[in-house]
Amino acid sequence: MSEKKLFIQTLGCAMNVRDSEHIVAELSQKENYTLTEDIKEADLILINTCSVREKPVHKLFSEIGAFEKIKKNGAKIGVCGCTASHLGDEIFKRAPYVDFVLGARNVSKITKAVKTPKFIGTDIDYDESEFTFADFRNNPYKTYINISIGCDKHCTYCIVPYTRGDEISIPFDIIFKETLKAVQKGAKEVFLLGQNVNNYGKKFRNNHKKIDFSDLLEELSTIEGLERIRFTSPHPLHMDDKFLQVFANNPKICKSIHMPLQSGSDNILKAMKRGYDKKWYLNRAFKIRELCPDVSISTDIIVAFPGESDKDFEETMDVLEQVRFEQLFSFKYSKRPLTKAASMPNQIPEDIASSRLTTLQNRHNEILDEIVLKQKNKEVKVLFEELRANGAVAGRTDNNFLVQIQGSEEFLGKLKRVKITDVKRMVLHGEII
Ligand code: SAH
Ligand code: SF4
Ligand code: F3S
Repeated sequence: MSEKKLFIQTLGCAMNVRDSEHIVAELSQKENYTLTEDIKEADLILINTCSVREKPVHKLFSEIGAFEKIKKNGAKIGVCGCTASHLGDEIFKRAPYVDFVLGARNVSKITKAVKTPKFIGTDIDYDESEFTFADFRNNPYKTYINISIGCDKHCTYCIVPYTRGDEISIPFDIIFKETLKAVQKGAKEVFLLGQNVNNYGKKFRNNHKKIDFSDLLEELSTIEGLERIRFTSPHPLHMDDKFLQVFANNPKICKSIHMPLQSGSDNILKAMKRGYDKKWYLNRAFKIRELCPDVSISTDIIVAFPGESDKDFEETMDVLEQVRFEQLFSFKYSKRPLTKAASMPNQIPEDIASSRLTTLQNRHNEILDEIVLKQKNKEVKVLFEELRANGAVAGRTDNNFLVQIQGSEEFLGKLKRVKITDVKRMVLHGEII
């Protein structure tokens, strides 16, 4: 089989990044494709899309148009991922030169898709929880492992349940074997992925051994050679005491946790259907800080959800003041098709949304400047995972601060003690000790 070139662009969350790895693995091992970063020499161009907010979806069609103009003669274009799931054959209508459409949760059909004219696979009930994909990883030291697919939470703003279908847990044996294999190939850190990781084990495709997320963490931590375990996203609602104890006491679990808040207002949390209130959220955040004094807490916040008043927004600002997040991902509410919130009254005007986002981000930047200043002169342990420009190499501390030192390949995949000598908002600089 002659060698073919694959160009792949990945947008969206870690689940899409992992899906792209599976796509590359399947195509390289079964169809003899190799990766290229030069779109002009590609025989196959793939765009793995995200639908969670409106802007990237708009951009998709202008991007496909641009790719069509520069691609080499006979090259194919495929649209994959979450936008493929919810737009389906509308993509063919709006961009007739697209060769196939492959939704999230249909990744295992990629080899068929490339060989079938106008293939479309967008079934959100399709079950890939036990599919054995071929193996490929962008980064051998830090490896993504899926532990569940889909989400049934149906938060009223969110399109994900309509692009990735209902939640199904991947059997423990598959996760364990995949982790073991990654560690044998040099991984020091695994990143467990799912939309609600701490709801793991509620529903399997077949009758599998019953196991919850806390037990999964404990079992994986027995793997020799595995140094660090991270996971995303846990849901604040499922942060019970058992989970917090395991999180705090297992030394292989990194003391960094994502606690997606979305809003600090009880009215808005209810309208979002998040299942917790401000009091529960603060209680969990304080408990985590009490159990693990060095923990980093990151969060996602949406401003200007329909009906959000100034008072509601102040409640969000209040949580920001109280928890003092080490990392914030913040977004203006974006109206998404199929979701309940899209038809709610009192959609918030753009100028108010922008001003709230700026207020939130400015205050968070001030908090962050204070937080990073405290890191100066600290001695930390860094797992180096990425080469940077100008002879630098970067990695993360256990509690997820990005640290950069002068150095090269010899540090990759190694855990080293570093003294922090200088701090910037997004990156700490240090020296090996
Ligand atoms: N399962 C994760 C979220 C995945 S989506 C969780 O429950 O936390 C990632 C983030 O995108 C969400 O946490 C939310 O903050 C944001 N998001 C989702 N839908 C959105 C929308 N319609 N408008 C703006 N932000 C949105
Ligand atoms: Fe979306 Fe809510 Fe599911 Fe997260 S938990 S993916 S925000 S529906
Ligand atoms: Fe985007 Fe799909 Fe992830 S919508 S955030 S790529 S689950």
